[in-house]
Amino acid sequence: MKKLIGLMMLLAASLAFASSGVELDSPNIDLEDTASLKRGGELFATYCQGCHSAKHMRYSRIASDLGLSEEVVKKDLIVGPKTIHDSMTTAMDSKESAAWFLGIRPPDLSLIARSRGTDWLYSYLRSFYIDPSRPFGVNNTVYPDVAMPNVLWELQGHQKAVFRTEGGSKVFAGFEHEGSGRMTPGQFDRAMADLVNFLDYVGEPSKLQRIALGKYVILFLLLFVFVAYLLKKEYWKDIH
Ligand code: HEC
Repeated sequence: MKKLIGLMMLLAASLAFASSGVELDSPNIDLEDTASLKRGGELFATYCQGCHSAKHMRYSRIASDLGLSEEVVKKDLIVGPKTIHDSMTTAMDSKESAAWFLGIRPPDLSLIARSRGTDWLYSYLRSFYIDPSRPFGVNNTVYPDVAMPNVLWELQGHQKAVFRTEGGSKVFAGFEHEGSGRMTPGQFDRAMADLVNFLDYVGEPSKLQRIALGKYVILFLLLFVFVAYLLKKEYWKDIH
């Protein structure tokens, strides 16, 4: 019993630790929206793959899942000298990168949507703010003191975080925009939702097929129930 209570307390403590106290927003995403997945893939190739890999994903798989031709994948998704049979590695040398980013290596993002969840990712990518005390001049409300620079500032523009003091501790109260980026806030949110959709797909590519197959399974079951009902009626008709 004591062990069980200890375990529960440990679990509660780790849950409290896992949340940074800010509320997360949910992206409006749809794994079947292949146009959104492609836009997300393009954003990943342009803004993330310089540092992060998604090494469990192959370009050929993206081509077949999203119904894209080899030419389109090469033109829009592949950066550098790679072929359609390669996986989404990063060109960055991992030893070098650890030295650049305060000793932290940019992690592989293949399974990030499964470990962090899509709400966390969507909120994280939209929560960088100016903080001159940090080495890259930015901080993040969802992942405080993160070692990742704000690579999206060109699109989003810079933002300041407003904090108020409540009972002696700093509580996040909202963002204030400082000049605009290339995108309006609505466009930026949409772009980040596409990127999160793509990361969700990369985390479990077979989910797409599972969803498609699921409809047929339900249809089959409904049909089977109908046939079973007719059979039952046939068998019991002389008994009643
Ligand atoms: C200039 C290099 C660089 C680029 C470009 C970059 N990141 Fe990062 N990223 C990092 C580093 C370094 C970390 C590790 C930060 C830490 O743990 O403190 C990180 C961490 C992360 C994490 C948190 C991982 C975790 O531990 O849970 C996510 C999610 C992430 N990046 C997503 C992205 C996405 C999406 C993009 C593209 C929009 C991107 N990053 C572009 C360097 C980069």
